[in-house]
Order: sequence, then C-alpha cells, then structure tokens
Amino acid sequence: MDLKNKRVLSGIQPSGLLHLGNYFGMIEKMKDFQDNSELFCFVANYHSLTTINDKDSLRDFTDDLFINLISLGIDPNKSTIWIQSDVPEVTELSWILSNFSSVGLMQRSTAYKDKISKGFKPMMGLFSYPILMAADILSFNAEIIPVGEDQKQHIEMTRDIALKFNNAFGEVLTLPEPLIDKKKSLVPGTDNQKMSKSYNNIISIFDKEEIIKEQVYNIVTDSAGLNEKKNINSPLFKIYSLFLNGDEINELKNRYETPGLKYMEVKQELYEIILEYFSEFRKIKTDLLSKPDDIEDLKKIGKNRAQEIAREVLDKVKFATGLI
Ligand code: ADP
Ligand code: TRP
Repeated sequence: MDLKNKRVLSGIQPSGLLHLGNYFGMIEKMKDFQDNSELFCFVANYHSLTTINDKDSLRDFTDDLFINLISLGIDPNKSTIWIQSDVPEVTELSWILSNFSSVGLMQRSTAYKDKISKGFKPMMGLFSYPILMAADILSFNAEIIPVGEDQKQHIEMTRDIALKFNNAFGEVLTLPEPLIDKKKSLVPGTDNQKMSKSYNNIISIFDKEEIIKEQVYNIVTDSAGLNEKKNINSPLFKIYSLFLNGDEINELKNRYETPGLKYMEVKQELYEIILEYFSEFRKIKTDLLSKPDDIEDLKKIGKNRAQEIAREVLDKVKFATGLI
C-alpha cells in the first residue's frame, strides 16, 4: 500500500499507563507516518467513558496521555494531535451515523461481546462504541488507520456505515482502510499473554525506575538449568528483541543457545536498555510538565486544527442529509 501523502489517523484510549505494547504496536508506527503522510492522532476520552466512571482518573489519564504522546515523538508541528472531547463535531456526526448503523451490525461486535463477558455493564455507550469510532475516522476523511488486529472489525464497521450513508446521499464520506503490521502487532506481556493494562502484565514507559525494574524482573522464565540451552520462544527474548536490530537479535539468539546464560543477567540488561531507550522521552516529558501553559497551547492548536476539518465534513453531511 502506498502511504505517501495519505491521511493517516488513529486514536488511543486514556484508560491506563502507557506500556511497551502501546509504543511498539502503535505509537512508533504513527511516528513513521509523520514525514510523508498527514498524521492525525487523538486521545479517545469519550471512548474511555465507556469503562472509566471516575472523574479524577479520566481527567488525569487524558492529560497524561496527551503529554506522553507528544513526549514520545508525535510532533504537534508535523501532525494534528488533540483530545477527542475538544471536538464535539465528532459526536454530532456520530448521531447522524447512528441512523445508518444497524443494530445487527453492532450485535456482531466482538469487542462488545468480549467486554460483556468480562463483566462490563451493557450500556448504550459501550454498545454503540463502533459508531463513535466511525465518526472519529469519517470526520477527518481519514484514509489509513493503523491499528492492532483487535480493531480490524471496527474499521470494517466504519466502512459499512460510510457505504450505507454514501449509497443514500452520494460520495460524501471517505472509506478508510486498516493498516495492520503483523511484525510487532503482538508484544507479549510479562506473563507471555498479550501485554495489556487489563492483564496486569505490563512494562510501563513512564513509571518510576524501581517499578519498571520490578516489572522486567517479573517476566516469566522457564526452569532450564544454567548449562542448558534457553528457549527463544519466550517473553524475555521477544521483549528484548524489540530493542535490537537483526544482527543483535542473532547475537542474543546465540547467547540463548550457548549454555551458561543467566536469565537474571539478561533481565538486568533489558532493564537498562529500556531506561536508556526511553530516557530522552522522559526528559522531554519532564520539561513539558514544567510548562503547563505550553501544554494548554498545544491542546488548543490541536483542537482548532482538528475542529476545522471536522466542521467542514459535518457541514457537508448535514447539507447532504437536509439538516442544513
Ligand atoms: P490495552 O490492551 O493495554 O488496553 P489499548 O487497547 O488501549 O491497550 O491499545 C492502544 C493501542 O496499542 C492499540 O492500537 C493497540 O492495538 C496497541 N496495543 C496494545 N497492546 C498491544 C500489544 N501487546 N502489542 C501490540 N500492540 C498493542
Ligand atoms: N478503539 C480504539 C482502541 O481501543 C481507540 C480508537 C477510538 C480509535 N477511535 C479510533 C482507533 C479511531 C483508531 C481510529 O484502541
């Protein structure tokens, strides 16, 4: 797929601390788009309202994620970065789109079924989550949506909703395509399941050093003896590899296959590599946090840029439907 000059958009929910899975699975890829494509990136706080009902948590996670994305390299000079609730045009479009979204389509949502099976209450916000997500995408005429495998169905639903709308009113909405990178799309957690804030198995990016150390030391390893070869199909090897190039991965593989390797030593190395890798980002964050006025300015810039586009699309939609 040629991504040059395409409009790329993705959002991330402010529902917990950022971890290596978020960075390598999504944020790093978004950064790659900044130079040759038009990147749109937002903090999906309306979406988090479906699962967080605590005022302070939602506000703090939202601010923290906005600052973290910028600290990690989403550059507000090259890209548009904003907080979802700052652009209410999107929720207005969402209502219009709900008239082109069948109940059957929503009922097929695996994310919804999954959440319900985990004990979440069957609220309308959760049920119609895919419609708001469609509005997030369609409000900006986004063409490419880099997401994890778990979000693929949501993009298909977005296309379905946009097609129904376009069939009724002409070519108003742009049909997006998902972009799923199989390579790093599944970063394992410390217990070898998918790294996720809901599984208590994360290695976080901006936590205190002692906590990151504890998380790295908690990565599960097998009971292979000192003089046995070690298994590379393991979370410690896979997480370590995220920070290495091809030759370095082969070197680590050799070390795993040579008797004498101590997991403790590998964990200490990995811990140091993680700190080193993110140290510049941490400095940028500390610096940004000392300038709250700059943060507020960046929020306003993002909001204005995003709102201008969302307004235009919304007006087109309202005109097409007879609402204006
Ligand atoms: P979590 O599973 O921790 O709740 P989110 O669902 O908020 O994470 O994911 C935000 C973004 O990060 C999504 O694009 C998702 O695909 C990506 N992501 C999350 N966890 C991982 C992982 N373990 N490996 C790769 N990408 C991930
Ligand atoms: N549903 C996505 C997630 O949980 C977050 C999200 C909301 C999103 N709106 C979006 C992602 C629009 C891409 C495009 O990870």
